[in-house]
Amino acid sequence: SEKIELTKLRRKISLIAHRGASDAAPENTLAAIKKALQGPADYIEVDVHQTKDGEVILMHDATVNRTTDGHGAIAKLTLAEIKKLDAGLWYDSAYRHEKVPTLAETLQLVRGRKKLLIEIKKGRDGFYKGLEHKILTIIRENKAQNWCILQTFYDPVLENIWKNELAVPTHKLIVAKIPFLPLYFDHRIRWGSFDKYDRAIAINANQYFTTQGFVKELHNNGFKTYPWTVDDPQAINRVLALGADGVITNTISHLEIE
Ligand code: G3P
Ligand code: CA
Repeated sequence: SEKIELTKLRRKISLIAHRGASDAAPENTLAAIKKALQGPADYIEVDVHQTKDGEVILMHDATVNRTTDGHGAIAKLTLAEIKKLDAGLWYDSAYRHEKVPTLAETLQLVRGRKKLLIEIKKGRDGFYKGLEHKILTIIRENKAQNWCILQTFYDPVLENIWKNELAVPTHKLIVAKIPFLPLYFDHRIRWGSFDKYDRAIAINANQYFTTQGFVKELHNNGFKTYPWTVDDPQAINRVLALGADGVITNTISHLEIE
């Protein structure tokens, strides 16, 4: 199999474990985070939602249906109800009894050993009220502001973070509407100017956006870029050769790095 050619690049890039080491353990669980802590990742990416009783938990989807043995929207379930669910069985019986972690439990596990890239999601029926403030409070309580980064697709969420006095770095996520875009795609047709994201440190697009021109324009505007979700070694080498500052990948446990 092909290797990731890091030595050829002559610059430091960041490997980001998507949803934890999601190729080795159930996504967004402490098991996946432990696996990612052991491997070559520089950052661990996780997704967060808010429960009915205002707790911040790790999960990708807005419902518990896919990644637990339960059913329903996170916004309509309490933390106690969610804690009763099995978040590992759907993935492999070896992970039976794995629980849905809170953000606080995650910070206490990571303890700054790697950076944590926290993606703020939306509920099934819209934005979670006060979620940004809660996340920032949890980060402050755990003295984690030096190793946490917040990212989101949603501009109102970014605005709420930027209003807060605790300065935690932010990344703006963008998504191409059409998969498998031609390489000469012009992102501005769909996407507009970078100016309103001046306070973000990176703009992360899905990998099909990543052309040399796109990366150059982001760098000229002072942004870094970490494309997602880039899994196969050829695709990873492609975006890194085009100047990406790193990759967000599902294959962190299986990467062969040279
Ligand atoms: O890190 C960005 C990427 O995770 C965004 O897409 O749906 O996997 O959260 P999604
Ligand atoms: Ca994500």
